[in-house]
Amino acid sequence: MPRTTARTAHLRAAGVSFVVELSSPLPRILHWGADLGDLTDEDADALTLTADGAVLNSALDLPRQCTVWPTEADGWSGTPAHQGHRGGTATTPRVRLTGAEERPGELVLRLADEVSELDITLTYRLDPSGVLGVVTELTRPVAGPGQDRAPYDLTGVTALLPVPHRADEVLDFTGKWCREASPQRGGLRFGSHVREVRRGRPGADSPYLLTLGVPGFGFRTGEVWGLHVGWSGNQRWVAERLPEGAGVHGAVLGGGELLAPGEIRLAPGDRYTSPVCHFVWSDAGLDGLADRFHNLLRGRPAHPATPRPLTLNTWEAVYFDHRIDRLLELADLAAETGVERLVLDDGWFAGRRDDTAGLGDWTVDPAVWPQGLTPLVERVHGHGMQFGLWVEPEMVNPDSDMAREHPDWLLAPSQGLGPSWRHQYVVNLAHQDAWDYLLKSLDEIVTRYAVDYLKWDHNRELHEAVARGADGADRPGVHAQVEAVYRLIDALKGRHPGLEIESCASGGARVDLGILARTDRVWASDCNDPVERQAIQRWTGQLLPPELVGTHVGGPHSHTSGRVTAESFRYLTALFGHAGIEDDLTARTPQERAGLKRWAALYKELRPLLHSGRVVRADLTDDATLLHGVVADDASHAVYCWVRTATSTKAQSGRVQLPGLPTRGGYRVRVRTEAGLPALHQTSGPAWFTAALDGWVPLPGSVLGGAGLPLPTLEPGQALLIEVTALR
Ligand code: GLA
Repeated sequence: MPRTTARTAHLRAAGVSFVVELSSPLPRILHWGADLGDLTDEDADALTLTADGAVLNSALDLPRQCTVWPTEADGWSGTPAHQGHRGGTATTPRVRLTGAEERPGELVLRLADEVSELDITLTYRLDPSGVLGVVTELTRPVAGPGQDRAPYDLTGVTALLPVPHRADEVLDFTGKWCREASPQRGGLRFGSHVREVRRGRPGADSPYLLTLGVPGFGFRTGEVWGLHVGWSGNQRWVAERLPEGAGVHGAVLGGGELLAPGEIRLAPGDRYTSPVCHFVWSDAGLDGLADRFHNLLRGRPAHPATPRPLTLNTWEAVYFDHRIDRLLELADLAAETGVERLVLDDGWFAGRRDDTAGLGDWTVDPAVWPQGLTPLVERVHGHGMQFGLWVEPEMVNPDSDMAREHPDWLLAPSQGLGPSWRHQYVVNLAHQDAWDYLLKSLDEIVTRYAVDYLKWDHNRELHEAVARGADGADRPGVHAQVEAVYRLIDALKGRHPGLEIESCASGGARVDLGILARTDRVWASDCNDPVERQAIQRWTGQLLPPELVGTHVGGPHSHTSGRVTAESFRYLTALFGHAGIEDDLTARTPQERAGLKRWAALYKELRPLLHSGRVVRADLTDDATLLHGVVADDASHAVYCWVRTATSTKAQSGRVQLPGLPTRGGYRVRVRTEAGLPALHQTSGPAWFTAALDGWVPLPGSVLGGAGLPLPTLEPGQALLIEVTALR
C-alpha cells in the first residue's frame, strides 16, 4: 500500500479510541469505538489508507467522507454540521482546517469558513471514563474594512459522529408526568430518526440517551453507541442512516441545541457555544454505557462527596397545609426515624395557599408563618438534620405581586399571554432586573434560614418564549433563558458554598448533564409507586449513578397511581438511590415507624456501596421480573434486588446469573430482612434461600455469576434483597 503523509490524532481512554485524520481541507473521523492500542505510524497509515469506500454508480465521483464538519461542500446529503445564512445568502459553507492542537485527552480543531464568515473551534475531550465530550464554538470575527456586517443567522449546529453498519437497532426514551424515562426500541431504518425537544426543558419525554447497537444488544452484552445532549433547553437529536452510508461508516449519531429562527444572530465579534454532546461507546451492553457515564459523573470535582443524607420531603405528607404544630411533629418523628435532611416543600411563601397564587413572591407568608420559618428550622437543625426548602424561581403566578408589579418580566409575546400551565407562566431570567431580584430573594432566604438544600422546581414548559428587545420587537428567548438559569444557580452556589440543589421539574422533566453540572441530584419522578419506580429508576440510572437520583418511600396508597403496595417493596425500591421518605409519619403506626427506622439504618449501612459501586442489570426473558444490583469495583461486595412486578406464566425463574460477579472465587450470600420479606408465590425453597434467611451461606462465584442461582418465585409487587460478599 502507498504511504500517506497525513497526520492522525488518537485519543485513548478506558478501552475507547477516537482517531481523526488531520487531513486538508477537513479532518475526517477514522474511528470511534474499541481501543485500537498504540498506533504505530504504519498502523495509522493503514487506517487512513482503508478509510475510503467504493465510488458508487450514479454518485459522487470521489469516495464519500465523514469529515469532522460534514456539509454539502464535501457531497454530504445528511444533517450538516452547521446551517445558517446572512440575509438569505452565505448558505453553502466551505469549512477548512486552520489548526489542530492535541493535548492529553483532548483534540482541538480550528476551522474557518470564509462563506459564512465564521471561525470554528471544535473540541473533542475524551474523559478518563471513555465518554467523548464534543463542544463547538462559532465566532464571527470582528469585521474588517469592506466586510459584510449583517448578522449571520445560525439555524443549527450538530455534533456528528459516525457508527458502523452493525449499529442496527435504536433505543431512546419517552415518557410523561409520573412515567419518565420510558424506553422505546426498534430497528434503525433508512432516513433520519430525529427527536426534537421544543418544550424549553428536556421534558418528561426526553430522548435522554439516544443509543444505537448491534441487533439484540442488552444490559450485559452487545456493542452500543450512545449520545446524551447536556442541555436544559430545546434540543435536536438524530440517528441518521442514508443508503450511501457515512463514508465507510454506516450511519451517524448527532445532537445539539434546537435553535428557533433568529434565536442566534452572530454579528461581527459574537460567539455561540454549543452544549456538550456526550458520546459513549461500549462493547458491554447498556450496563457498559451506564458504567462510563457513572464514572464520568463520579470523576467530577463537584460530585457530591458526603454521604447522601436520608431525606424527608413534606409534599405528600402535608401538601399546602403548613400548620407549624403538624410540621414540628413531623420533624420530631423524622429525626426519631433516622432522617438526616428535612425538606419543606411548596406552600411556605407569600400567598401560596394552593397552586394558583404566590409564585414569584419569595418571602415567607406571615399569615401562615407568623414567626417566619425559624421555629421549624430551629427544630430541624436542633435535631442535627439539614434543612431544605422548595423553590421554583423561573416561574410566576399571575396572582402574585411579582406579576402585578413587573408584567414586563414575563417571557411572553407582546400579543399577550398564551394558555397557563398549572396556573403559571415563565419569568424572563434574561431580564437583568428579574434575575437580580431572584438572586437577591434566594440569597436572603438561604442566608436567613441557613438553608442547606434547595429543591429547585420547574413545573411548566416554555411556549411562545419570546422576550422584548430594546427595539420593542419579540425575539426567541429559550437559549438565553437556559444560560440565565445556569448563571443564577452558579451565582447562588458561589455565595453559598456547600448549598446543595435538586433539579426537579414536575418530577424528572429536567434531567440532563447541563443542569447536573450545577446541581446535586434529580427528582426522578413524582411517582413513588414502587412498580412504576422500578422502571423509572432503572432507566434514569442509564445516565445517572444512584447517588444522584432521589428515591423516596411513599405511603401504602400511591398518591399518583392509586396503587396499594407492600411496605417492603416500597423500602427496597427506594433503597437504590439517594433515599428518602415522602409520607406523613404522623399517620403511621409505631410498628410502621419502627420498620422505617430499620430500613433507614440499612440505607445508612449500605450507602457507601450503593453510591460507589457499579450498577448491574440482568437480561431476563421474563418481563415481569427484574434483577438489578450494585457491585463494588473489586467485586468484593454486592447487593441485588430481585423484583416481581406482575405475575407471569413462567412458574420458575430457574438459575439466574448474578450480574457483575466473577465466575471464580469464593463468596457468601445472605438475605437482608431488615426491610421486611416478600410474600412468596410458592410453598418453600429454594434450599439456599431458606438457609440464607438465617445468615451467610457460602456459594462460589462459579454458581453465583456462572451457572446461576435459582431464585424464589415472588408474589407480584414484591422484592427481595440479597447481599453477597467475597470470602477472603
Ligand atoms: C412539583 C414537584 C413535586 C412538588 C410540587 C409542589 O409537582 O414535582 O414534587 O414539589 O411540584 O408544588
